[in-house]
Amino acid sequence: MCVECKDLVDPKEEKLDELIARYKSQKGAMIPVLQQAQEIYGYLPEQVLRHISKEMKIPIAKVYGVVTFYAQFRLTPMGRNVISTCLGTACHVRGGAKVLDTIENELKVKDGETTEDGRYSLEIVNCIGACGLAPVISVNGEVHGRLTPEQIPGILAQYE
Ligand code: FES
Repeated sequence: MCVECKDLVDPKEEKLDELIARYKSQKGAMIPVLQQAQEIYGYLPEQVLRHISKEMKIPIAKVYGVVTFYAQFRLTPMGRNVISTCLGTACHVRGGAKVLDTIENELKVKDGETTEDGRYSLEIVNCIGACGLAPVISVNGEVHGRLTPEQIPGILAQYE
């Protein structure tokens, strides 16, 4: 463990070091390392990125370049409730954008963001396999379908 990374917390730290050791000598391993580090921490804290940069000898600017380029990477923790709003074709055609607008206005967050109180994270997805119920959202994997914008406040209130 590098000196400036000493405050990483066990046992996640141990898993991160195992992960880095596994990939260290492989070329092009940065993305799988970042993906798995995100699985360990739930997001990619700055100190984790610095640790990966140092141990894998990849400049920190390059690590940040990759993390900010791909939408799959998160630099902030997920909220307690994850709202996936579908904008796939069926949902889009049936008013998914209005549902999304309403959620964004209610929570004051955009795609990929978490509310300040940590209660909700919002993400846009392309299809969750419930097209017959379009437009749909899922909250923590629970699907809500045939939505109108007016239903959104009541649905959000169900999740503390
Ligand atoms: S397009 Fe929204 S669930 Fe399939």
